[in-house]
Amino acid sequence: MSEQAVRVSLPILPARTDAGSPTQSRLWHSSGESSKPVKILSQHLYIEPISSCNLHCRMCYTNVVNGPSRRLLEAEPIVDFVLRYANVTAAPFSIYWCGTGEVMLHRSFPDMVNRIQAGAPQVEQIIQTNGTVKRLAEFQDLTRIDFRVSIDGVKPLHEWHRGPKTYDRTVAFCRDALDRGCRSMNIRCLVTLDNIVLLDEFAADLTAALGPRYTLSLTVPYANPALSRVRAASALINRNEIEDNRIITFEEAARICKERYQGRYTLAVDDEVDNYLSLSSGGVYTCCEGVVRIGDLADPIETLIERMAGSEAACRSCALFPCQ
Ligand SMILES: C[S@@+](CC[C@H](N)C(=O)[O-])C[C@H]1O[C@@H](n2cnc3c(N)ncnc32)[C@H](O)[C@@H]1O
Ligand code: SF4
Repeated sequence: MSEQAVRVSLPILPARTDAGSPTQSRLWHSSGESSKPVKILSQHLYIEPISSCNLHCRMCYTNVVNGPSRRLLEAEPIVDFVLRYANVTAAPFSIYWCGTGEVMLHRSFPDMVNRIQAGAPQVEQIIQTNGTVKRLAEFQDLTRIDFRVSIDGVKPLHEWHRGPKTYDRTVAFCRDALDRGCRSMNIRCLVTLDNIVLLDEFAADLTAALGPRYTLSLTVPYANPALSRVRAASALINRNEIEDNRIITFEEAARICKERYQGRYTLAVDDEVDNYLSLSSGGVYTCCEGVVRIGDLADPIETLIERMAGSEAACRSCALFPCQ
């Protein structure tokens, strides 16, 4: 796909002008109704070990903090927590590594993954990354790692969001991880008014670079109306307004997937709201948005699981509910 072709195609859909409207605001990243069940996933951990990031994405909803005041979880308490958790949890048990920044910037990240693979081989590990930091050689066994890599559409649109010279680096990261035998590669794309009309071109570019070795997931990003409702309650949410005027509504994105692509692309939608133990420097929460805090990493695992099981009312009263 040439950049010229992309420029000629834009913009197809108008920018939103009603971002602050309360009746509209529930449409952004709210794909379901409040009757959704809350499901307790007690065989799933979500770990956010670092708030630093090397990129500055326009729509990033998390509270990226760089420099000395960054939020950081050291390796020892994380590995200790995971091994204690693994002792009381039957397989299948999985860890989703993410950051309110970029996990690959944590100096001990590959070491933590390797130590968990050695100490609790039954644990599945999923790594969410922006794919711009070259550290794959530090992982001992990529054949047991599932990657989620952020690529937000064809090159010019990805770089509109993530910055210049990011697309080729990230695609090269994906190819390298696949060539080194990673178990799976899922490309996660935030859909916008611009990239949603170029999904065939995007998929063709990815297939040309990676072969048919990846899957593609589409997510409608959170926009400011939703984020402003939880900013005060969570230290993990971006302190500033994001650039959301190219964000598409869920309903419009679903319509385009159905009519333009006849369902060949679908949006990530959960039938339920998932609760799981989510670890960050602020403590342990019931999900990655960091709103419902239930304890500390040093707390007994059984206590945390009990508190999570009893947190449905708190989850339902979160201003983002039903978040996905
Ligand atoms: C905050 S990032 C952290 C991990 C890594 N730095 C990355 O970009 O993949 C985690 C996920 O959140 C997504 N994300 C960023 N801004 C978002 C928004 N406004 N709404 C929903 N998801 C968003 C990213 O695309 C990524 O898939
Ligand atoms: S989306 Fe990921 S890569 Fe982009 S600024 Fe946020 S944390 Fe960093």
